[in-house]
Amino acid sequence: MTETVSASSATGSAPFVVRTPGRVNLIGEHTDYNDGFVLPMAIDRGLRLTVRPRTDRRAVFRSEREAAAAVFDLDAPLVPAGTWSDYPAGVLLGFLERGWRIPGFEAVVSGDLPSGAGLSSSAALEVATATVVETLCARTLPLDAKALLCQRAENLFAGVPCGIMDQFAVTCGRAGHALLLDCRNRGLRHVPLDDPSICVLVIDSGVKHSLGDGEYATRRGQCASAATLLGCATLRDVTPAIWRARAATLPDLERRRAAHVLAENDRTLAFVAAVEAADWPRAGRLMRESHESLARDYEVSCSEMELLVSAAAALPGVHGCRMTGGGFGGCAVALVAAAGADTVMAALRRSYRDATGIEAEMFLTRAAAGPTVSAT
Ligand code: GLA
Repeated sequence: MTETVSASSATGSAPFVVRTPGRVNLIGEHTDYNDGFVLPMAIDRGLRLTVRPRTDRRAVFRSEREAAAAVFDLDAPLVPAGTWSDYPAGVLLGFLERGWRIPGFEAVVSGDLPSGAGLSSSAALEVATATVVETLCARTLPLDAKALLCQRAENLFAGVPCGIMDQFAVTCGRAGHALLLDCRNRGLRHVPLDDPSICVLVIDSGVKHSLGDGEYATRRGQCASAATLLGCATLRDVTPAIWRARAATLPDLERRRAAHVLAENDRTLAFVAAVEAADWPRAGRLMRESHESLARDYEVSCSEMELLVSAAAALPGVHGCRMTGGGFGGCAVALVAAAGADTVMAALRRSYRDATGIEAEMFLTRAAAGPTVSAT
């Protein structure tokens, strides 16, 4: 992968603004770290970094949501602090390790992306930081290298063992398109998703169970062990013939985890075909099956999410609804008929409140572009 030097020096030493989207995953859940398929889309909510170059060698991040600024000396070793600042710091380190000389700057972080709701606010911050560095250095990384650098920052510096979906979705988003990513070879296909009769609705369950933190790594481990027991390097290598011959030999837990991943890969490709055929009832059924599999076999749902998804599924105009992201709370995503979407939202808000006492935040969104840079 070669790095390119851009023709202009972008904004030179003038202030500038970087915007990055959040993402929602339509289908293909817990498949990315199994070399499988995912279908996220970048959304029209995200982060905004207002950047001013500094004359010294410090990188300063201020966030509207955090009291203390994060200050990094670009000539001193960067070490994890165990706070939100690890996301940008890990990205800075990634560029420094590549030999980039990053000039000092100050970035003010704002935006309309809820953090901790499973809409990839951390990936949005990482990719925004990478875009700031590219702009200041007047060079760019290829998109896949940029996404991987950000994922590595999250894995190694922030200590979150995530897969590659979020950073790719944020980096490679295209307006009006979802992204079909083959996580094995990182092949990317932009799938048009701009039918005006359909809306994507994101619903925040308002819960985040801390249990989820360790469980993500546990699921990864269970998938790796299932693949090994099946004699394969990854679950992507498990053919239908291997599965038929050996599934029954797996311990119950490994069998259920693997069953989810194998079926979810198939569902993701079938969902793309349904979207391309504008067959929304079929797309909706696949979302429901995905959710049931995540709840039953992968065990990453929670009681509030079950109430939310079943309340949504019962409403006329909702083609399909499922949990999205890592699980244990966070958000659900639904495909909803555009006509009557407001009625759906009001009814869902009411029934979820009646069932749980929680006021669910929700918004309609559209598939958006990746990072943009503009003058302030
Ligand atoms: C989180 C991770 C992703 C992916 C999803 C589950 O969002 O960051 O890499 O594994 O969970 O699909």
